[in-house]
Amino acid sequence: MRVSITYIIVDSMAMAETMRYKLSIAGDYFPDHPCPPDSTSPTMTQATWIRSIGWSLTIFVLARWFSYYRRAPKVLAVGFWPVPYLGSWVAAIKFMLWPVDMVKEGIKKSKNGIFRIATLNDEFVLVTTKDKVAEYLKASDSVLSMQDGANDQQQIPFTMGFGVAYRTYHNIVVRKKITPSIPAFTPIMVDEISAALTQEIGTPQDYKPITFYRAIAMTVARTSNRVYVGKSLATHEAYLQNATDYAQAVVVSAEILRLVPHWLKSTVVKFLPVTTCMKKAVAYLGPQVEERLSRKDSNRNREDDLLQWLLDEAPPIEKTVYQLVERVMALNVASIHTTTMTFTAAIYSLALEPEKYMDTLRDEVINSLEDGKISFGSIQKLVHVDSFLRESARYNVAGLMAMQRNAKQSFTFSDGTVIPAGAKVGAPTLILQRDASSYENPQDFEGFRFVSTRDGQPELSKSMVTTGTDYHLYGHGRHPCPGRFFATHEMKILFATLLLRYDFKLKSGAKPQEIRIGTMAIPDTTLEVLFKAVPSLKTATKLTA
Ligand code: HEM
Repeated sequence: MRVSITYIIVDSMAMAETMRYKLSIAGDYFPDHPCPPDSTSPTMTQATWIRSIGWSLTIFVLARWFSYYRRAPKVLAVGFWPVPYLGSWVAAIKFMLWPVDMVKEGIKKSKNGIFRIATLNDEFVLVTTKDKVAEYLKASDSVLSMQDGANDQQQIPFTMGFGVAYRTYHNIVVRKKITPSIPAFTPIMVDEISAALTQEIGTPQDYKPITFYRAIAMTVARTSNRVYVGKSLATHEAYLQNATDYAQAVVVSAEILRLVPHWLKSTVVKFLPVTTCMKKAVAYLGPQVEERLSRKDSNRNREDDLLQWLLDEAPPIEKTVYQLVERVMALNVASIHTTTMTFTAAIYSLALEPEKYMDTLRDEVINSLEDGKISFGSIQKLVHVDSFLRESARYNVAGLMAMQRNAKQSFTFSDGTVIPAGAKVGAPTLILQRDASSYENPQDFEGFRFVSTRDGQPELSKSMVTTGTDYHLYGHGRHPCPGRFFATHEMKILFATLLLRYDFKLKSGAKPQEIRIGTMAIPDTTLEVLFKAVPSLKTATKLTA
């Protein structure tokens, strides 16, 4: 609807232009009836002209509004005024100011937990009960499409490329290649994390403030890219910075593109930050892709990394330097900030209450080490660390719109509620992850909530990678994140390494700020965490450094 306002302006200008043209040729066709003298004719013509435009515009707006009204889902609309167009804008402004209150109002007023909200970008149907979330997530992609939802949300065809949006062979590569290779990749992931932390934090003898989000973003970028494209680029500072910036550029560029009419997007995107980042990525990564594409014998000196697997799996139309660079960058978008946000939130929670959790977590890591080292096997033993990460994701990583699906055809819930084609559906994580029917004391942070005991041994009731209608970090249903095993493993190595090497806490009185923009919950990216190297753990430190 927001965009349709733009259309109206553009369309009405076109209409005015057409009328002006028609009026001018009318004069040419009727030379015997020339226009009246200047004193009267321009005024008359202008008045008629303005009246015609007025009528056309009114009819046009009413027709658009009628068609919008006919297509709008017939569910409770929260915060809307009953005035064409303006009503939705009012709801969007209210949502911008009080997003959580608006969702709570919807839950209170709607009979079945389904209602409509408006944001500055669009309108969404929010589904707030677990059974109904399960229902819509079961729908096939031809009815409620995940890819259309992602393409729309991140404007993928324009920001990351047409191929990434519509030829999603990378999903298979992540599932069938990256996940099974995690055990083999563990030693190099441990090495990269250790080296990156030495670079980002060092070994301070007294508490030193570190802007933690940035430090972790660079560490995650380095570790992931070691697996994606190999050693040389994984230690190339400018490449890593660009990969990190690219993900942010996609978010910013998508916000702008959503306000632009479809036909103008491919022009506008050329002037957005995402295009600058892609150009740099081609400069850094292009030569390596080109070299691999030009190999006569593709089986000789094969690298075992993401780039090679993408090359193997790509359909012929995708086997170009530019498109392969696009694909690697898209997977950087999928991994860097998602992992950084999730991990940062967990460490903020630990740094808020180190006395409550630090010893148990650290003891668990030390006791898990194999030959004094972090290994694939040792990471599998980290039950408390896993629970802490999951609880942090439940408690901290909670926006108001997850698992967006766009209706390609109309979808009917079991209670008869219809989601018409064209509507966008999602679930508010903040509500479902703090639902008392799923969690005891849902408003409290309980780091070891998911640890239970069997035969005196701690075990997980639910692990970090187990998705659900009440736990949305990695989505749920037909499209859970295929990278969740890799991301979780990476975060656990990071966690273990930090615990072995440092004591950390927040400055006295400091607290992470919770930022909400529209439906998104954004972590505090500027908060400083105080770090001090732990001398008593020298043995373990040496083994991981
Ligand atoms: C903590 C880190 C991560 C988080 C929080 C995360 C979260 C998500 C979410 C919420 C979805 C969409 C699920 C839905 O709509 O139902 C998703 C999809 C996806 N993620 Fe992740 N992700 C993470 C890391 C990764 C990594 C490391 C990779 C790649 C190696 C990856 C690759 C993908 C892909 C390819 C999809 C699309 C799946 C499909 O189309 O079926 N993700 N992720």
